[in-house]
Amino acid sequence: MSANAHRTSDRADFAIDQNWADYTVDEHAVWDLLYARQRAILADRADDALLHGLAALDLGRGGIPDFRIINPELHKLTGWTVVAVPCLVPDEVFFTHLANRRFPAGAFIRTRAQLDYIQEPDIFHDVFGHVPLLTNRVFADYMEAYGKGGLRAVKFGRLKNLAALYWYTVEFGLIETPKGLRIYGAGISSSADESRFALEDASPNRVRFDLERVMRTDYRIDDFQETYFVIRSFDELFRATVDTDFAPLYARLADGVSHRPAALIPSDKVIHGGTGAYHRRKSAS
Ligand code: PHE
Ligand code: FE
Repeated sequence: MSANAHRTSDRADFAIDQNWADYTVDEHAVWDLLYARQRAILADRADDALLHGLAALDLGRGGIPDFRIINPELHKLTGWTVVAVPCLVPDEVFFTHLANRRFPAGAFIRTRAQLDYIQEPDIFHDVFGHVPLLTNRVFADYMEAYGKGGLRAVKFGRLKNLAALYWYTVEFGLIETPKGLRIYGAGISSSADESRFALEDASPNRVRFDLERVMRTDYRIDDFQETYFVIRSFDELFRATVDTDFAPLYARLADGVSHRPAALIPSDKVIHGGTGAYHRRKSAS
């Protein structure tokens, strides 16, 4: 593990130097391994915008990406940059970064023993998963608006509802394309197993995105999702969220996230009603 893993920042925004020169040969090799594996899995599963972003930033050029190299490229495309952070940062710090078109990314990389699952977001999840879509103009604008919306949600005391929106779009979103359902969420796209599960397994629900429905839905942080929400386009997502004043919505959502992760409700436009077999099997064992 590199020295970055345990460094803290004395800055209020939690930013640290990536210290790219400190990554070990083996840490670069872990990136290359994850990159090659995930790029192959995503070829027929990820949305084109995500694949374009990977290519545009040349994230597979070899080794862990150096922020000093990718930042000028990303900034030229959409005005976003990536800043290294030592750990998950507090909500308001996170929102402030997004609102200023800065994506906070964990600087450390998982070990070989953690290839398939880690709890804390590392540089593979944050950069391979999140950064490609920041090259897309509409998605880049959505992320900035989300950061501003986050600062507002804090004042309304509705963070849980806004977090559910992030979870079911930025992390675990699916998109409908002429070629079929595709992945755009980073929690899926940075996971080999969930990439297959989200698209191909009969177990989870796949339901059309509806803003208020999503913001009322609880979610799992410890396993694959039981429901995935499907947008038609990033424009749809942008309009549904950015063009809506959440204040009246927050007033209606006073009961918090009341829908269980696996529940379907009568107003849902269901694309696939899940069998639930995967999570049933897990809770039985
Ligand atoms: N429109 C939201 C509000 O009024 C802000 C927001 C935009 C939140 C995009 C999330 C995503 O608070
Ligand atoms: Fe993430």
